[in-house]
Amino acid sequence: MRRILVIGAKGMLGRDLMGILNSSFSNEEVIGWDIEEMDIQKEDESITRIEKIRPEIVIHLAAYTDVDGCELNKEKAFSVNAEGTKHVALAASKCRAKMIYLSTDYVFDGDKKEPYLESDSPHPLNVYGLSKLKGEQYVQEWVKDSLIIRTQWLYGPFGKNFVTSVLQQARKRAELSIVNDQIGSPTYTADLARAISELIQLDARGIFHAANSDPCTWYAFGEAILKLSGVNQVRVIPISSKELGRPAARPPYSVLNCQKLKRETGLTMRPWSEALKDYLSTYRQLLS
Ligand SMILES: NC(=O)c1ccc[n+]([C@@H]2O[C@H](COP(=O)([O-])OP(=O)(O)OC[C@H]3O[C@@H](n4cnc5c(N)ncnc54)[C@H](OP(=O)(O)O)[C@@H]3O)[C@@H](O)[C@H]2O)c1
Repeated sequence: MRRILVIGAKGMLGRDLMGILNSSFSNEEVIGWDIEEMDIQKEDESITRIEKIRPEIVIHLAAYTDVDGCELNKEKAFSVNAEGTKHVALAASKCRAKMIYLSTDYVFDGDKKEPYLESDSPHPLNVYGLSKLKGEQYVQEWVKDSLIIRTQWLYGPFGKNFVTSVLQQARKRAELSIVNDQIGSPTYTADLARAISELIQLDARGIFHAANSDPCTWYAFGEAILKLSGVNQVRVIPISSKELGRPAARPPYSVLNCQKLKRETGLTMRPWSEALKDYLSTYRQLLS
């Protein structure tokens, strides 16, 4: 029986992925760890623990994902996202395991005017992107059989995210200001988890982009969340990233080209608006 280890299993994507893996890989043993089981910042402990269970596949989702937090705490960002990933990569290499690493659209600077290909040169604008890119480089350096999946703008039932935050704010305020100068594709964790599962089934290697299709701005996404949730009394005001004044710079355009995923798995990620409708109707009670 093959053993699949998921690190970061209690995070937003991790919980959805555990569900999918447990149903699609019923002949494999799926083990989920999070920070309580192992802090990836601790090199020796991480390597010893992973080596002890000798997994065939290591799926590494654990990260310091607070983008503005990373900007203010560079040391922690690199310690978790870069060095932590190196420790997991070293362990995977010792076990001769395949390693799957989740990365981000924020490895790109957003200067391109068309969707980013896997082969485009990364150039992160913020510490989070830099630390995740370093993580990618460690995976490529240390692990023979690796798969890097870049995704973006995640939301789902198992974590605080843009959708829950817009709905919460809308309960308290008559007006919401949302940035209108960043373009990407909101991605539902359930759809991404399915894509990851397909890529594992096909034993895919290298870099893949995976996100829901049909790019939009955060402003358009925010308006759709409210409209589909039947919230009509809140005014949404488009603002610039400069006006919002967040510590970390974001790429103005970070759309991911997912053609390679379609070509190699036959999987087309549905438009974000369909995925959002599905999410809002499935989790209506949880979100109200
Ligand atoms: N969220 C997005 O929009 C987005 C976009 C692109 C790529 N990604 C990537 O996708 C992956 C999953 O993202 P997500 O949104 O599901 O993240 P998440 O909800 O923040 O989950 C990450 C998990 O990792 C854990 N963790 C943090 N530091 C750790 C450490 N030192 N050792 C072990 N575990 C640790 C976290 O625990 P605590 O909660 O206790 O810290 C959390 O359970 C990440 O690699 C992220 O970089 C996310």
